Amino acid sequence: MVVLGIETTCDETAAAVVERPDAGPGKILSNIVLSQISEHAAFGGVVPEIAARAHVEALDLIIAKAMTQAGRSFAALDGIAVAAGPGLIGGLIVGLTTAKALALVAERPLIAVNHLEAHALTARLTDGILFPYCLFLASGGHTQIVAVRGVGDYVRLGTTVDDAIGEAFDKTAKLLGLDYPGGPLVEREALGGNPARFALPRPMLGKPNADFSLSGLKTALRLEAERIAPISGQDVRDLCASFQQAVVDVVADRLRGGLKMFHARFGFPTALVAAGGVAANEAIRAVLQRVAFEVGTTLVVPSAELCTDNGAMIAWAGAERLALGLRDTLDTAPLPRWPLADVRGPLSARTGSPAAEAPALPPAAGASEQT
Ligand code: KG4
Ligand code: ZN
Repeated sequence: MVVLGIETTCDETAAAVVERPDAGPGKILSNIVLSQISEHAAFGGVVPEIAARAHVEALDLIIAKAMTQAGRSFAALDGIAVAAGPGLIGGLIVGLTTAKALALVAERPLIAVNHLEAHALTARLTDGILFPYCLFLASGGHTQIVAVRGVGDYVRLGTTVDDAIGEAFDKTAKLLGLDYPGGPLVEREALGGNPARFALPRPMLGKPNADFSLSGLKTALRLEAERIAPISGQDVRDLCASFQQAVVDVVADRLRGGLKMFHARFGFPTALVAAGGVAANEAIRAVLQRVAFEVGTTLVVPSAELCTDNGAMIAWAGAERLALGLRDTLDTAPLPRWPLADVRGPLSARTGSPAAEAPALPPAAGASEQT
């Protein structure tokens, strides 16, 4: 099964062609990602209108490149998958409209993929792991611990009550005068810093659930920076190291809680899987490794280019859904807000549950869930 995947939910314009065998990992035939970072950097974050315009300008070319590199014609595809949400509405419209036009002209099935589901299933593309597994998804817009029980079968065990982890890294970077996106820069500065110099809080530590809270940590960091202002280069390094250490401690504690909940409800996970841009952080990877070891499971972290937003994960999720007979109609609407728990799967489709039968409702005005 060969599927084209299109990703335009945030600030990457991406397309890829992926082959899914009947069992085991997939094969990436092409994976083209155009990052818009330079177009947003001056604003210290993603500007939705700039993102949508950039997607319009780039998407056709990115798709053409992905098809050429894969050596496939549209007629040779089994389906066309597109991220239909959650994300910024402008980008979603660009991606979904393009995918619908291709599906109509090439007479191929359209698969509207949930961007979070695509992150959740990437470890099956790369490592062919089996269900059920425990997912730690940490990106600029999401922080979630999820039990992945099957395609379209996700149970959220924990989430953030305020900022996402990537967002906290980005805000910390901004506060300390580092560029956007801040995560990799905070990590780099932290390498030369003292993680014990500032006593920052570890929010939610020891709470009997798997939820996160990051905004208090961010505020505490700001107060420390203001207290010692003007800050030197070494101060920045120490602040970054102290912040990162606090995040690492919180991640370890929350994941232990999440894995305990997983075990109580679903038995042993086949793996602990990390996804999202934050999983590129070495200190966080190291603690994930430790927690996985403690509970006797293996850690699976897809490579950095597959952890961050890309078209291959959309193509793969589309292929997984298509293999189960799930496809979407040309009147499918983009969904800026689309929680994983609302994604329908083969069971909801078969039993005719509300999730399968409800028409895609237009999102509430202003509702947005970044990816
Ligand atoms: O999944 P992703 O590529 O995109 C979206 O959020 O849509 O994640 C990007 C986020 C940003 O907040 C970025 O600062 C963070 O992941 N990030 C990192 C690192 N690399 C990327 N955070 C901490 N350490 C890193 N090395
Ligand atoms: Zn993402």
